[in-house]
Amino acid sequence: MSAGVPFLDLRRQQEAVRPEIERALAAVLDAGHYILGGEVAAFEAEFAAFAGARFAVGVASGTDALELSLIACGIGRGDEVVTVANAGAPTICAILAAGATPVLADVDPVTLTLDPASAEACITPRTRALLPVHLYGQCADMAALAALATTRGLRLIEDCAQAHGARFRGASAGSIGDTGCFSFYPTKNLGAIGDGGLVVTNDEALAASLRELRMYGESAPRHTTRPRGRNSRLDEMQAALLRVKLRRLAAWNERRRAIADAYGAAFAGLPLTLPAPNREREHVYHLYVVRSSGRDALRARLRERGVDTLIHYERPVHRHEAFRGLDPAPRALSVSERAAAEVLSLPLYPELSDAEVDTVIRAVREAC
Ligand SMILES: Cc1ncc(COP(=O)(O)O)c(C=O)c1O
Repeated sequence: MSAGVPFLDLRRQQEAVRPEIERALAAVLDAGHYILGGEVAAFEAEFAAFAGARFAVGVASGTDALELSLIACGIGRGDEVVTVANAGAPTICAILAAGATPVLADVDPVTLTLDPASAEACITPRTRALLPVHLYGQCADMAALAALATTRGLRLIEDCAQAHGARFRGASAGSIGDTGCFSFYPTKNLGAIGDGGLVVTNDEALAASLRELRMYGESAPRHTTRPRGRNSRLDEMQAALLRVKLRRLAAWNERRRAIADAYGAAFAGLPLTLPAPNREREHVYHLYVVRSSGRDALRARLRERGVDTLIHYERPVHRHEAFRGLDPAPRALSVSERAAAEVLSLPLYPELSDAEVDTVIRAVREAC
C-alpha cells in the first residue's frame, strides 16, 4: 500500500520559495507603505508584461476584477452578459453585483468552454458583453468569440482566474478581450497567501477607469469622485509575495504540463475522456479534469487507494438554489449538465513528486 496523495498541499509551494518570500515581506514591513505602494506598481508592470497586455490594475479579488471590469465598460442594470454555467458561482456573483443579468450559454463538448454558437443564440437587444471562462487552464475559442463580439458590438471580458499563462494562438489569456480578469486565490497557478486579483487591458481609458473604481472612484490628481467606486485594492504584502512567485510561474506551468503529459500517456485507452490539449490552446492545467460515466464509483476506488480527488463543479450554476432564476429553457445546457455528472479532478500541482505522479497513475489504471 503506497502513501496517499493529497489533492493539493499549498505549504509545499511556500516552502520552495520561503527565504525569498520572507525577505520580500520583511522589505514591505520596513518600507512602511502598505497600500498602493511600490510593490503593487512593480507587480502590475511585471504581470502586464507576463500577460502581453499594456496595463494591469491590481484589485482585491478575482470576483472584483470581473465586477469592476463590467462597471468600467459601462455595463449594469438592464444589461445582459452571456457566460457559462459550469464554472462555479464567482463569475455569476460578479455579473449580478455589477447589476447586470447573467445569461447562460452551453459549452463546447471537448474543452467545456463557452460555445460560440450557443453564445450567439443567447444574444438579444439587451446583450452587452460576452464573458468566457478559460476553464481548468485552457482558453475558450477566442477567435470565434472575438469575431462574434466585434460583429455584434459587444464587450469581451475574459475570466482568466484559472488560466495564468495560458495561450490562444500565441496570445496570452487576458490580452485578447477588452479586459482579462485574474484571481490570486491561494490555489490558483499564481496564488497569494490571502485574496487578490488583477485586471489586464490594452485600453488606456479602461485602465484609468479601473484605477478610479478600486479607490472610491477618486480620479487623481483632482480628487473628484465618480459613482460606484469602492475600496478594492491588492495590498503590498500580497504583491511582494506574488512578485517572487511570478518569477517561477513559467517553470511551474511547465511542470504542470509535464505531469499532464505523463497522465495523458498513461491513461490512453482507459474508459475516460481526457483533457484535450492542442497547439492552438496552450493549457496550463490549473486542474487536470477527466470525465467518466462512472465518476462517483471511480472516485471512491481512488480514495481507497489513497488518491484525493475533487469535483469542479458538482452542479451547473442554475442548479444552485440562489441562481434558480437563471435556468434557461429545459435541456438547453445539455453539455454543461452532462459534464457536471462526469468531471473528476485528479491531483496535479508543480510540487507533486514523481513518485506521487506514479501513485496516481497506478491508482487510476487499477480503478478504471
Ligand atoms: C473561474 C473563476 N472565476 C472567478 C473566480 C473568483 O476569484 P476570487 O476567488 O479571487 O474572487 C474564481 C476563483 O475562485 C474562478 O475559479
